[in-house]
Amino acid sequence: MIQKRFLKKVRTGALLLAMSITGYVATAQKQGTLNVVTQKPITAVSPAMWGIFFEDINFSADGGLYAELVKNRSFEFAAPKMGWKEEGRGKVLINNRLAENQRNPHYAAITANGSFRLTNEGFRGMGISAGEQYNFSTWIQKAEGTSPVTISLKLLNAKGETIGEARLPAATADWQKLQVSFQATQTEPKARLQLVFEGAGTVNMDMISLFPQHTWKDRPGGLRKDLVQKLDSLHPGFIRFPGGCIVEGRTLDQRYQWKKTVGNVEDRESIVNRWNMEFSYRSAPDYFQSYGLGFYEYFQLAEDLGAKPLPILNCGMACQFNTGEVAAMGQLDPFIQDALDLMEFANGDATTTWGSLRSRMGHPAPFNLDRIGVGNEQWDPQYLERYKEFEKVLKQKYPSLKLVAAAGPSPGGEKFDYAWKELPATKVDFIDEHYYQNPSWFLNNANRYDNYDRKGPKVFAGEYASHDKEGKEAESRNTWLSALTEAAFMTGLERNADVVQMAAYAPLFAHIDAWQWRPDLIWFDNLRSVGTPNYYVQKLFSNYKGTTVVPILQNGEPLTGTDSLYASAAMDGNSRSLILKLVNTSAQPKAFTIIADDKKISGKGSMQVLTAPDKSAINTLDQPGAVTPKEQEVKASAGKIQVTLPPLSFSVVKVPAGK
Ligand code: AHR
Repeated sequence: MIQKRFLKKVRTGALLLAMSITGYVATAQKQGTLNVVTQKPITAVSPAMWGIFFEDINFSADGGLYAELVKNRSFEFAAPKMGWKEEGRGKVLINNRLAENQRNPHYAAITANGSFRLTNEGFRGMGISAGEQYNFSTWIQKAEGTSPVTISLKLLNAKGETIGEARLPAATADWQKLQVSFQATQTEPKARLQLVFEGAGTVNMDMISLFPQHTWKDRPGGLRKDLVQKLDSLHPGFIRFPGGCIVEGRTLDQRYQWKKTVGNVEDRESIVNRWNMEFSYRSAPDYFQSYGLGFYEYFQLAEDLGAKPLPILNCGMACQFNTGEVAAMGQLDPFIQDALDLMEFANGDATTTWGSLRSRMGHPAPFNLDRIGVGNEQWDPQYLERYKEFEKVLKQKYPSLKLVAAAGPSPGGEKFDYAWKELPATKVDFIDEHYYQNPSWFLNNANRYDNYDRKGPKVFAGEYASHDKEGKEAESRNTWLSALTEAAFMTGLERNADVVQMAAYAPLFAHIDAWQWRPDLIWFDNLRSVGTPNYYVQKLFSNYKGTTVVPILQNGEPLTGTDSLYASAAMDGNSRSLILKLVNTSAQPKAFTIIADDKKISGKGSMQVLTAPDKSAINTLDQPGAVTPKEQEVKASAGKIQVTLPPLSFSVVKVPAGK
């Protein structure tokens, strides 16, 4: 529903029709001079400027970042046997012990009458690597009054051949966690896990789990290494989590509640994923949230990445595209209490209730939470009145806590204008703007923030992506054109880094066989992942952030699209260098002399060039390197730099700025 709304906005931009590279002239026309004015710094660049937005959409958490291979491990899906196949002589009875265990009520009583097999299909299969060690675990109990059964485990490849096996120790009359580790003999992207029960008896089983031993930082039950590596390479300044609409839920009952996502994994309450049936054309009835990736893990990930954690909390409103259900005014206390308790969970010491839980989970030191989002993509007066209630309590208890408030789902219009009319009168620190728009919009909005009030609340460009035409391949919407137009737009964010202090592309991840929304920054299957052209744009901006924005001008004016050129410049105080970001959206190469007012800008530097022969070029899992940055040398001599920008290109120049 939401996607359709955005699709309507995607029009073919006339401006972009000129961008065909047919007729590309190899010799660059001399375009003249650009001036960099280091003596007139504009603003410091916030270290948190370029971040990431994680939402459990497109199987980003279970089936993605969270390395668990078993789907529906605790039989808590709406259809409790979903993902499991029964074969042979025996049966599975799902038991509900709700009265004694509200968070994880179901378990399976598995009876064998000879030989019985129970097979888990994984998340569109299981990605298994030859030579990797796999850790199986389960909570298990021999049912009272029955004979013992032996249980062996098999990893099966797509042909049904065994590619790894182990035998489970005998179950006892008491519930216990049994674990066994074994090695896989073959690489297989679509493996299955089979449990073979032999004998005549019954065992009760819950939390049937399989993880690779090598996860990110080799944490048991941890995150998929290749995916976190891709995030790490971005050097994000912040990570926003856990969403997105996932925060709101279709109903309030299905909202994201962080307290249900912390503590022992077997005590976390599974819940349906709100993207499960959102789009009928991409429905995923098997999409649930196990919360194995919960708030503790998000904070830990933020710390690993050197990023500021930015949790977004439900503000007493369910998704306004769905039910729009709200908690009545006067009934917001539990919601506000969740925010207060989250501060304690993140930063409180071990003498506090929630700080002590964090400490017991393995992190006695605080996570240094200093910003929270109140609501996701909310709008209208019902949001404002709820936001204000949160603000009153949070700012009183934590005056320096930064609050993020929503400006609705679009970058303009009635809802947006209302938010910007009302919010500046509050104590809000950031207003969260979202733009899923066509490529032309991104070009036309490179100057969007040039006239924003410098004294008002700061902008959090919380979700954006240039939406190009869709094609057959899953990754097809992440075209070079979409990435290039984002780069052009992002020069505008950087030029206005005094106003825009955080920005993130959205969504972050998508499983190639299980996505609901595209484009996305990183695509993956069960074994591989690929950074889109958009990923490399984000990476270049973030890795070449600089510390102080300085003007880069043509004929005294910023470059915001005249002659298809967009640019921003920053000094980097850490490496003592000048960084230029230059976007050429035309079909012609362009040559410039760049003159900086500081003659100390001299010496050998580098130019990262991101380009593609065609605006529809994409990176795919099979061809991940079609659009990736290529480095070339560049020289600065007494403040002068000569550059040629290829057609349809984004270039980042970094040269020494002297002592
Ligand atoms: O990024 C996908 C969705 O877009 C987010 O969940 C929501 O905030 C927005 O509508």
